[in-house]
Amino acid sequence: MPKPKVLSTRALFPAARKILDADCDVEYMTGDVRPSREDVLRRVKDKEALVCLLTDKVNDELLRNAPKLRVVANVAVGFDNIDVPACTKRGVVATNTPGVLDETTADFAWTLMMAVARRIGEGEALARSGKWTGWDLDQLVGADVWGKTLGIVGFGRIGRAMARRASGFQMRVLYTDAQRVAEDVEQSLHAEFRDFDSLLAESDYVSVHVPLTPETHGMFSSPKFFRMKRTAFFINTSRGAVVDEAGLVAALEAGKIAGAGLDVYENEPFILPGLKRPNVVLAPHIASASLETRTKMACIAAENVTALFRGQRPPNMLNPEVLNGK
Ligand code: DGY
Repeated sequence: MPKPKVLSTRALFPAARKILDADCDVEYMTGDVRPSREDVLRRVKDKEALVCLLTDKVNDELLRNAPKLRVVANVAVGFDNIDVPACTKRGVVATNTPGVLDETTADFAWTLMMAVARRIGEGEALARSGKWTGWDLDQLVGADVWGKTLGIVGFGRIGRAMARRASGFQMRVLYTDAQRVAEDVEQSLHAEFRDFDSLLAESDYVSVHVPLTPETHGMFSSPKFFRMKRTAFFINTSRGAVVDEAGLVAALEAGKIAGAGLDVYENEPFILPGLKRPNVVLAPHIASASLETRTKMACIAAENVTALFRGQRPPNMLNPEVLNGK
């Protein structure tokens, strides 16, 4: 029996390739240059599975173009690049990689928080510049993180991983979400529920951990930044489009907030020039980028594909109804 044909839009990691190659005939799109849309569309035509990244748009155009496709495995937990209803309509299973990147992403949100509060970008530039004249009392003074109030927007797995870290820094933790979590969860994480606006007004650090959905799109509109403390910092490791970036720039320019730490942008890889300020720490969407975590993400995507071809339910289905009754 011929093995099912799979397209992977990137090379993946050896451990994930091993899983896929055991069961499937895989075409990997390798190389330093990101594959073009045309190339992906051309190569996916005769494939039964697609392993893709969050930079690949899986929409009606792609699905129409790949009539044999049975499963799309995103190597990411966020899946706003996938039109899930369109997949469902065509009987294509869509999967993601939840659970394995929570701690690594929370580590990185913390990295951004510390970096912007303690002005590490400016400090590193000075240390390398040859212009540092030595210790000085008021040089690059920043803000404390320990003992402050952390406001977590989105209290899912990553938001809760943020809360766990906060206790080591003796921080007060506030959170907001569409729904309040159970009292025992709040108690174990020492987290207090607030509505969105109250959280913005009370927090010294606001860290975003919501998925991008029609409800969260642009939720950080311009007026929201004006509700924050002038001394507060905004941290985003979720998706750029939850933020009105022009509004964020306006708040930074007007000194309405103290700074920001950003890993994600609305139109990646484009970064609004107004965000390139000394009080903004910018990263290129790398919050989950530890070798351990990225390897796990790729392996999970591979397992989602091979499970389906073995007649099992893929563990991380976004549209389980596709296999109902099968
Ligand atoms: C995701 O998984 O959605 C992140 O943005 C990349 O790890």
